[in-house]
Amino acid sequence: MYKITLGSMHKKLVLNFTFFGIIIISCMYIINLKVVMDMTKPQEIDVMKPARQEFPKEKYDELKSFIDGLETTKGALIEILHRAQDIFGYLPRDVQLFIARKLGIPGAEVFGVVSFYSYFSTKPSGKHTISVCMGTACFVRGADKIIGKFKERLGIESNETTEDGMFTIKDVRCIGACGLAPVVMVDGKVYGRVKEEDVDRIINQYLGKETANANKVLR
Ligand code: FES
Repeated sequence: MYKITLGSMHKKLVLNFTFFGIIIISCMYIINLKVVMDMTKPQEIDVMKPARQEFPKEKYDELKSFIDGLETTKGALIEILHRAQDIFGYLPRDVQLFIARKLGIPGAEVFGVVSFYSYFSTKPSGKHTISVCMGTACFVRGADKIIGKFKERLGIESNETTEDGMFTIKDVRCIGACGLAPVVMVDGKVYGRVKEEDVDRIINQYLGKETANANKVLR
């Protein structure tokens, strides 16, 4: 009798667990399905909207003719994004959507590539772009400490711009001045053999302070 009662209780428990288990799994499936749909749906709809013309039409025309001039657009997304960034300076949402429409691919695919590669920027650069070389020669001579100091001093990360729009930090690969490692380039001007203590002076130079003391020349 005792065994029979225990057996039926066990069966009830198993049935209850199975029942609630199915309900919980179904709910999770529905929630996940909704999240996935929410992630993709707005981007697909946005792609169909005309892009706002924040840039002169000529810039879009230039990008359009570049894309039209390609033998094939298959596998050319990265090349197109590089060209777009050259033309526009960065890759705002509208430009990404323009490319998506032109290639007939989902906006999410373009967004995914842009966000994957740190080279691509979705925000305009600051007035001064500080490019810290992270190539091998510079890295072994402390480029990571140099860029760390710039980040700390300006309170931003790589590919970010200070709130006042003054500086953008970029980590770049070899710029061909390995003999001067570690190398920093600001707006095209090269600073060689940079030390951590030089960081403030370089920044101040572009803030209009200590101009005379901050100069470091390419030798
Ligand atoms: S590795 Fe930095 S300039 Fe070559």
